[in-house]
Amino acid sequence: RYLVCLILCLPILPLSFPFLFIFLVCKYKKYFLNKTNTKTDFLNIGLKILKWYGLNARELPWRTTKNPYHIWICEIVLQQTRVEQGKNHYLNFIERFPEVKSLAEANIDEVLLYWKGLGYYSRAINLHSAAQQIMNDFDGNFPNHFEDILKLKGVGKYTAAAVASICFDEKIPAIDGNFYRVLSRIFADDFDISSSKAYQYFYNLAAMIMPEEKPGDFNQAIMDIGSEVCKPKNPNCYICPVKKDCLAFEMGRVQDFPVKSKKVKAQDLKLHYYYIRYRNQFIIKQRDDSFIWKKLYDFPEKIPLDFEKWITHEKTIHHKLTHKNLEIVISEVSLNNKKDFQKFSEENQFLIITYEESHQKSFPKPLENFLKKEFEEL
Ligand code: ADE
Repeated sequence: RYLVCLILCLPILPLSFPFLFIFLVCKYKKYFLNKTNTKTDFLNIGLKILKWYGLNARELPWRTTKNPYHIWICEIVLQQTRVEQGKNHYLNFIERFPEVKSLAEANIDEVLLYWKGLGYYSRAINLHSAAQQIMNDFDGNFPNHFEDILKLKGVGKYTAAAVASICFDEKIPAIDGNFYRVLSRIFADDFDISSSKAYQYFYNLAAMIMPEEKPGDFNQAIMDIGSEVCKPKNPNCYICPVKKDCLAFEMGRVQDFPVKSKKVKAQDLKLHYYYIRYRNQFIIKQRDDSFIWKKLYDFPEKIPLDFEKWITHEKTIHHKLTHKNLEIVISEVSLNNKKDFQKFSEENQFLIITYEESHQKSFPKPLENFLKKEFEEL
């Protein structure tokens, strides 16, 4: 009887395939979901990271304070340099400018001098303006929540989140390249980090794993894991507190994350300077605050026609900025007439200085190197 039934049903058997498929999906859905759930036990991941930080946090000079002014300075310094080099810059800076008021009242040239060696001087100019903003708009008190911190000149979401979480216990993830990398590896997530939506996407993911308590420690844990463990190249997965949760590690595909499709192409830019000397002195000028190297000192970019015959030689320097490839030509003009030298400088409101005096001014890195070579490699 069964055989007869089976034979009679054979022609309509293919019709049952969709039902069979739905039945199987429903039956095994639990298995699939369970597996995903255990892998993305979000909060547990966050708690493991926090616990790891409690035992492994690096001892750093700014980790003994919750003074928002100091944390702000440290975060801006660390956008410019690595932690090891940043320590001394941070300590020197807060020793000279221990509070908002001293920074706000300082002369910009002195602030730039304390920024020397860090490069990208517009950050120092912004620090100075923001300190004045705090004096004027916040009665000299450092703003104490995310939205207000974000209003400060030169402060973006990352810095505001770092200060708000470390100093005021606000639960806001400080999303930067480290965070993108750590999260995209844990979840083997191929969301393109160069997309304009990446910040919000990873912010939401980070907010899911971020525990309620100690948000500042959690953010700093990600910074430590990002720079010491989950490094861009040669990550040290075996010491990672969340290696068991990391999908990229499980699949042996850690190097495939994060995914970044777009690369910003650097522009070529040519500059021509005249290094005009008379004996051991030379002429400099201060840049304005537009374009690159705001407020730094450089050399004249034009000379009178009758100076051209005094050009002794030319040097070409190649230098990379974040989005620019610079080709800098420096023509050396050796004058032997003091009057011409002084007249040219005075007429243009330039400055005449010696190499020793130049240490009190801030120059763009390639020009600083140029002067060093001129005077120290004789
Ligand atoms: N990088 C940026 N901010 C940092 C911090 N607070 N600690 C360590 N590394 C950092």
